[in-house]
Parts: sequence; C-alpha cells; structure tokens
Amino acid sequence: MNKIIYADNSATTAVSEKAAAAMMPYFREHFGNPSAIYGYGQEAKKAIEDARRKAAKSIGALNNELFFTSGGTESDNWAIYGVCESKAKKGNHIISTAIEHTAVLRTLEKLQTQGFDITLLEPDVYGQITEEQLEKNIRPDTILISIMTANNVVGTILPIKKLCGVAHKHGVTFHTDAVQAVGHIPINVRDLGIDLLSMSAHKFHGPKGAGGLFAKLQAAPPPYLTGGGQEKGYRSGTENVPGIVGMAAAIEEATEKLSDNMKKITAYRDKLIEHICTIPGTYLTGDPVHRLPGLASFVFEGIKESVFLINRLNDAGICASSGSACSASSKEAPHVLTALGYDKKCARSALRISLSEFNTEEEIDILIHKITYIVAELRHEK
Ligand SMILES: Cc1ncc(COP(=O)(O)O)c(C=O)c1O
Repeated sequence: MNKIIYADNSATTAVSEKAAAAMMPYFREHFGNPSAIYGYGQEAKKAIEDARRKAAKSIGALNNELFFTSGGTESDNWAIYGVCESKAKKGNHIISTAIEHTAVLRTLEKLQTQGFDITLLEPDVYGQITEEQLEKNIRPDTILISIMTANNVVGTILPIKKLCGVAHKHGVTFHTDAVQAVGHIPINVRDLGIDLLSMSAHKFHGPKGAGGLFAKLQAAPPPYLTGGGQEKGYRSGTENVPGIVGMAAAIEEATEKLSDNMKKITAYRDKLIEHICTIPGTYLTGDPVHRLPGLASFVFEGIKESVFLINRLNDAGICASSGSACSASSKEAPHVLTALGYDKKCARSALRISLSEFNTEEEIDILIHKITYIVAELRHEK
C-alpha cells in the first residue's frame, strides 16, 4: 500500500520525535506523583516547572501566568465560565463571533440559558471582524470579549491586537482561542495585550490531552476544577506529566523552527491554492492574505457533499476534511462557512487541506493531481 498523505493537520498533528522522546521517561522511569514530597515525586514536579518555563517563554508569558490544562476545550471553558463568575456583578453581556470553535460557541449557548446575553459578531466574507464592528457592540454591561486568533475551518487570522485594544479601551476582559495559531504564527501575549489565551499541544506536534491557559498576572479566572489544589489551587487533578513535558518540548521546537516552517509551508499552501483554484467553479474560502501558513480551504460548484470528496481522497490515501474535526462526519454545512455568507449547498462542498512541516513538495503535487481528478469525476457522476 502507498504511503498515506496526511493533510489534516488542523485536526491534529503527529507528535514530533523530540516531543515523544521528552515524554518517554515520564511514563515508566519518573512516574511519581508530582504532589508527593519524596524525591521521586519531586522529579516529576521539577519536570512540570521546567516545562512551564519553556512553554511560557515561547508565548512571551511569565511562568506564573501559564496553567496546564487538558487542551483547548478545557482552556476555553475555563476562561469563559471563569470570567462570567468573577465579573457577574459588573454585567452579563458577552461578545464573541459566529465563527468560533464549538468549545466557545456551546459554552456561550449554555451561559445564555443561565441568563447571560450573548452577541455573536458576523464576520465579512473573508472571516474578518473590524474594530468598528466590535466597538459598536460593546455596552456598559459587557464583561468579556472572546475572539479566536485564527479560524480552524478557513484559516483566517484575525487582528487580535487591535480588537483587544478596543476591548481594553472600554475596560473589558479579552480572551482569545489561539488553538490554531500557537506554534504556527508568532504569538506573544505581551505584544497582543490579551488577558487570556487558550492553546492545545496536539495542534503543534505535541500530545493530545495537554494544553494551556495563559492568564495575565492577577487576571486568572477562579478555579475551574476543584480538588487537590494542583496548579497553585487553580486547576486541581494529578498533572499529566508526560503530556505537559511533551507539550513544552513541542512548543519550544515549533518556536525555534517557526520562521523556516512558515516559509516552507506557506509556499506549499500557495502552490496548492494556485492550482486548485484553476479548477472551474472552485473558490478559495477565508482571507486570501491573512491566513494560516498551512491551511487551504475551498468550495466546489457541483459537489453535493464534501463527504464524497473526502471518502474518495481517503481511497487515494489522502487524509483531509471539510472543516472542524468535531463535525467531520456531519452532513451539516460547516457553521463557519454559512457565517461567512456561503449558502448551505455551497458550504456542504467544503474541503480543508491543512499542511505541516512533515509534508513534502511531492505530496503537494499528488494532492493537486488527485483533488483535480476526483472533483472532475464526482461532477461527471452526478
Ligand atoms: C480553534 C479551536 N479551538 C478549540 C479546539 C479544541 O481543542 P482540543 O482538541 O485541544 O480540546 C480546537 C480543536 O480543533 C480548535 O481548532
């Protein structure tokens, strides 16, 4: 059987060799509980604090501003519920966008049932939100603005620094879901000025089940998980030591390689976009300029369901998706594309190719050839 071409790196990535090697000793050799006071446990504790230093440095944070979590979903939940709990006396209005990941949208829906008032900003056709649009929607009772750094379906990178500036002008806490951005584009929490940021290790060649919440000093939301008081009492539960160590190794490696990888992956992405867009009735979705280096997303006239396209690509040894991994098997149009203004029929034909440093130029050529061929084949069969 031919080698698989993995082009779904926005869903998850392969753990890098360095990250995997860093994790291994913490499964069997140094498996002690970090809360134990004997040396064996303290080795694990030290590994966590070393990891915190590395991971915090990679995003420009202080060590005590980074809390380890189980991933992006938990970080988003913690940030949003936490701010609502601590700011409930000030107001009950939250602003977010219609293109957030479900980890944010479902959390906001739940808060709505509890009496919070939610405004979801509608982006333009590229997935962009403007400062003016945000400012117009801020009210005296707005307590939180949560806007993603980069979109997981179409790859648009949003102007977070400017949007955060607007939030702060009105004294509103700003959270960003940077799950698709960390490790892929430069992220410095001080430069962005944000209060809270969510990240997830498995999106940047770290392990699944490990992530982080950056919370600006003195802006940490109240504890989300209560229990044994780990993470200085903010996030109880015995720490996922191998996961934390793997995440730190992965983010450190991604940061070191960032500029080389961005150059290489952007060139692959642009070659793919250039060729795929020559297929008649094919449109690039998302921002043509401000987009993630590895993400190319399209809609195709005459393709009824992207699941047919994805299954044929799978038969050809290619892993790709329609958008969010969480809705991969759904026949529903991705909510991000309908929010961008695509009609449901068109949105249901979406294809997302997401690349990593492990892809090769030869794979890009195969992707171009196979996608072109399969789109023609499916159109012919209809
Ligand atoms: C933008 C975004 N936010 C949050 C998540 C959830 O992250 P995790 O899988 O680590 O829970 C994802 C995962 O796809 C994502 O793309």
